[in-house]
Amino acid sequence: MTKLFRNSPFFSSRFSQPVRPPVQIAIALLFLARVPVFSADVAPRERLSLDAGWRFLKADAPEAGTNLNYSAIKAWILPTGNPFTTNAPAVRPEGNLGDGVSFAQPGFDDSQWRLLNLPHDFGIEGPFDPALPGGTGKLPWSGVAWYRKHLDIPASDAGRKIYLDVDGAMSYATVWLNGKFVGGWPYGYASWRVNLTPYLNFGGDNVVAIRLDNPPNSSRWYPGGGIYRNVWLEKTAPVHLTHWGVYVTTPQVSADAATVKIQASVDNDADADATVTLKKEIFELNADGSKGKSIAALSVDGIKIAAHQSQPSDGRIKFSNPKLWSLEKPQRYVVVTSVLQDGKTIDSLETPFGIRTIEFTVDNGFLLNGKRVPINGVCDHSDLGALGSAINTRGLERQVEILKEFGCNAIRTSHNPPSPELLDICDRLGMLVMDESFDCWQRGKTRNDYQLLFNDWHEKDWRAELRRDRNHPSIILWSIGNEVNEQGVKSKFWIPAELTRIAHEEDPTRPTTSANSDVNAGFNGFAANEDVFGYNYKPGDYGRFRTANPNQPLFGSETASCVSSRGEYFFPVTNNKNGGRSNNQMSSYDLYAPPWATPPDTEFAGQEKNPFVAGEFVWTGFDYLGEPTPYDRTSRSSYFGIVDLDGFPKDRFYLYQAHWRPDFPMAHILPHWNWPERAAQTITNADGSVTNRPGLVTPVMVYTSGDSAELFLNGKSLGLKKKGQFEYRLRWNDVVYQPGTLKVVAYKNGKKWATDEVKTTGPAAELTLQADRNKITADGQDLSFITVTVADKSGLLVPRSNNHIIFSITGPGEIVATDDGDPTSFESFQAPEHNAFNGLALVIVRAKAGQPGTITLKAESGGLKGSSVQIKSH
Ligand code: GAL
Repeated sequence: MTKLFRNSPFFSSRFSQPVRPPVQIAIALLFLARVPVFSADVAPRERLSLDAGWRFLKADAPEAGTNLNYSAIKAWILPTGNPFTTNAPAVRPEGNLGDGVSFAQPGFDDSQWRLLNLPHDFGIEGPFDPALPGGTGKLPWSGVAWYRKHLDIPASDAGRKIYLDVDGAMSYATVWLNGKFVGGWPYGYASWRVNLTPYLNFGGDNVVAIRLDNPPNSSRWYPGGGIYRNVWLEKTAPVHLTHWGVYVTTPQVSADAATVKIQASVDNDADADATVTLKKEIFELNADGSKGKSIAALSVDGIKIAAHQSQPSDGRIKFSNPKLWSLEKPQRYVVVTSVLQDGKTIDSLETPFGIRTIEFTVDNGFLLNGKRVPINGVCDHSDLGALGSAINTRGLERQVEILKEFGCNAIRTSHNPPSPELLDICDRLGMLVMDESFDCWQRGKTRNDYQLLFNDWHEKDWRAELRRDRNHPSIILWSIGNEVNEQGVKSKFWIPAELTRIAHEEDPTRPTTSANSDVNAGFNGFAANEDVFGYNYKPGDYGRFRTANPNQPLFGSETASCVSSRGEYFFPVTNNKNGGRSNNQMSSYDLYAPPWATPPDTEFAGQEKNPFVAGEFVWTGFDYLGEPTPYDRTSRSSYFGIVDLDGFPKDRFYLYQAHWRPDFPMAHILPHWNWPERAAQTITNADGSVTNRPGLVTPVMVYTSGDSAELFLNGKSLGLKKKGQFEYRLRWNDVVYQPGTLKVVAYKNGKKWATDEVKTTGPAAELTLQADRNKITADGQDLSFITVTVADKSGLLVPRSNNHIIFSITGPGEIVATDDGDPTSFESFQAPEHNAFNGLALVIVRAKAGQPGTITLKAESGGLKGSSVQIKSH
């Protein structure tokens, strides 16, 4: 039995206005599709980056006292959420907030404040404080901070609407313009807009001041602090498309034809009624984001919009031979929606989208374009390791590239709305997304978390997220929450019901889900409030769930939580999942997990035994800042990642690659083979006698996409092993260590498939540098990630080396971060020097804006031959 989702929604969209929208259907064939959209007018909507040149202070204005606490600002910021609630709009209080607060005043002298560009995370600047909680990374991300910036708004802008769009600010943001309070938004992961227009000085100077108040005990992981996402100034005509008001769906899709439904809403913020023409034209989008050929267009004339009202208008365009969006070929299209008045284009907006079908089935998992795609996903937090929470498009893109490398095809944005850039990248590169909203509802997990906001803000946050994100083809699930404490509280089941209802209102094309840790949530009525059910860490309960819920699709919303430190191995190797600990590190034999969790293999077996399950989201793809289980008191970043904090593969990378890319020939041996203390030794005892201790047993594992493999130590076979049913790794448990070469030859269906080799290395002799990209853009944002390897004289990585490395840079570039992926390290992420961790370190270099040239990064370390690498910026 197949179903899309259970609550069979055909709710009207939120644009439900008293007037029925004009609907027009255009059927266009490719060859007659060329219709020009623009007249000679320049597109009148402007979207300008506002990232450059902010003044910053990590302190509060002395006069603020408690006057700007949430209880004092709440009534003032609630109206910012009015477009996202169906309740009566909140009314702004009389007077002005913050009149006596110096930092909010336009004349305040901020010249002594630090000058910086956004996105900015003040927490990542450190220093690490061992006294701070490990759970949030031992970094100083909490507290009050102010940002100020002068805006030059020309007199010619008079009459336009001017908005400040903030993609994310952590947290409790309040905004003043020229000393007048404008609005704000508390949830640090939300994207929001305030209208600057009423407070602007057209043709003169304007000062925007933003206060953030990031409470301690408000997160279970490192949230970062500051305006950590992009900020924009958007200018429109008084009659303009509604914010996030273009919504594109594809009600009919086949290989032969697609119907694209475009709902667009126009706001008339003028005092007079308006009559407009709405044009919609579809273009192909090229892989580089540029527009390709025009596909089809339609135009609706005579749309009347009363003063200070909004007017929706739906249209459908049908065209033949659509190129479907898929993981292998993520073809995108774009709708250009234009508003014309008296023949002139007064607004125009591009909305990228994709044409594909998604379906969650009860018996056959998840279908993309009608074909089963096992969800081989990961959960990830939003930090970028050493870069902190400050978003960087290349940093995100690199993450997605690394995930794809081991066969990952889906990301769960645990446990909050992601940056818009991540979704664009997933659309462009072909990666599925489970878009999540909250880590808690009314019942919190830490003292100051979202529980404080839920009642007043959940509808606004949720509708804003849905409306912002619903055009992304990559998104396949809306997640209403993670391990909420209401899973077992029947009197609170109205909450998931309401969140699902809102999701269906905003986007009836995708199912809702949540990530559930309480096994009873599958049996106590909770599950009935969402379309697709997600279990966290319950591979043993999939069958039971299916029996009790024969009509609800199921997947593993969070799985494994295996813990390991890259390059660490402890002996004797135990199969006890509580083992593998030493010296604040976790052994990389990939057998260890906290009490609620499992090694990866257990989940693989759970999925294989229950093939109706749609797949899994592993906790986590990348190591992240904070939550260093099981060393929450002492360490600063997590051990959960399939790759480490810097994106270096751990052994587990290859375990997942072997399972998720079965057609990719590969084999991977672990551990490394530098164990002098485990080699046979002649020991002189206290009494002078001599014992010949044989080499110690040093188990070897092989991860391969083959079905069997033969292992050789110094040319001698240690036997051929075959994977049994529900086995995902090959183990040689009794290998006696002797230095030299381990080699594996893997087979598939009786044929040689792949090989791998690990050698005992010589001592560390040199550094080698490898840039992920030797050519980057000189735009002040693009990055090159440089891997630094401590190598022996033949160039082999020396596994247990932790040499201290000093970096220097010449040319038009700067070192923005250094790290080594060691969860126990308290070295600064920002210093131009760092220890290596098990042979590797990472340097992140940024090209300076507008200064193309050759950047040279040099690495030196006492006793080793140094090295350098060149990066061209253009
Ligand atoms: C889960 C939780 C995640 C993370 C993980 C660690 O229960 O949803 O946020 O804490 O445990 O294993």
